[in-house]
Amino acid sequence: MIMDTAETSSINRLQQSFSLLRQDLQRDIIGQPHLIDCLLVALLADGHLLVEGAPGLAKTTAVKALAARIEADFHRVQFTPDLLPADLTGTDVFRPQSGAFEFERGPLFHNIVLADEINRAPAKVQSALLEAMAEQQITVGRSTWHLPELFMVMATQNPIEQEGTFALPEAQLDRFLMHVTIGYPDAASELAILRLAREQASRRGQTKAVSPALMSQADVFAAREAAMAVHMAPALEEYLTQLVLATRDAGRYGPELKRWIAWGGSPRATIALDRCSRARAWLAGRDYVLPEDVHGIAREVLRHRVLLSYEAEAEGVRPDRVIDRLLDLVPLP
Ligand SMILES: Nc1ncnc2c1ncn2[C@@H]1O[C@H](COP(=O)(O)OP(=O)(O)OP(=O)(O)O)[C@@H](O)[C@H]1O
Ligand SMILES: [Mg+2]
Repeated sequence: MIMDTAETSSINRLQQSFSLLRQDLQRDIIGQPHLIDCLLVALLADGHLLVEGAPGLAKTTAVKALAARIEADFHRVQFTPDLLPADLTGTDVFRPQSGAFEFERGPLFHNIVLADEINRAPAKVQSALLEAMAEQQITVGRSTWHLPELFMVMATQNPIEQEGTFALPEAQLDRFLMHVTIGYPDAASELAILRLAREQASRRGQTKAVSPALMSQADVFAAREAAMAVHMAPALEEYLTQLVLATRDAGRYGPELKRWIAWGGSPRATIALDRCSRARAWLAGRDYVLPEDVHGIAREVLRHRVLLSYEAEAEGVRPDRVIDRLLDLVPLP
């Protein structure tokens, strides 16, 4: 692809803004660089995130920090067993003044939506959210409403407490671009978090210092375009495809993988690997994808798409181990 210099410099400017955005986020969210990278990859690849992590690991802080730095409005929805689909989508409300029903938009009509503890709401609500995510529109009665062009959902799941929860249907997990798991911070980060929290507490009540420069939505869209235009060599495309095919026909890579995998990834997995690898390459300041970009996001893309067998569960095999094995066995280009 030949680009003129003006185009190249505007792409460089966007890459720089994203690199600054990442630095800013790392100041607010300590010791979770992977979560930040996944948020940025999802933003660039126009996808949604499922985040699994114990309470108090900065999930809410992270999405809020992102929303505060781009031109986007943010809304958090706590999922509970009594939530109804209309509580998310909105509903027709009777207006006595006009004597007619008017659609009142629900909380999904925001740019960045945090769906907290998504597995606490029953299937109907989950599927209303997942449908809106896949189609970027909502149908209520006979009317269809479009969600904003910038629309990103981060759903959270708590791995500790499973009582009274409704597991997300496996078939619908595919709608998430990535499934991110976050763990506890290390000792140094823990200390840094403590200091940051103290500093924030002492600043509370004071008038805010200069608020950070907002990245415009136009810049986000331009960055998406540039990231998705990153070059991927045909051999690497072939490798992506082979990785996903291996999840469906694991027997080719030995009896162990065959035993472990009950169901492989769909074409959505291939498309997601492609988009996320490009976004990652672009974030790293490159205009071509390397195998390390694929490896850097393969776990997140495949984790929720490779369904393990009972045997694997009985043997205590986790999806990450299966994916790592696939990455070892499928030959690199
Ligand atoms: N890595 C971190 N960097 C900075 N602050 C952190 C970090 N982890 C936790 N905190 C602080 O801990 C508190 C809890 O964070 P937050 O509310 O974002 O967690 P959460 O993952 O959303 O929890 P929950 O699952 O209970 O909703 C916040 O005050 C946040 O500032
Ligand atoms: Mg939270």
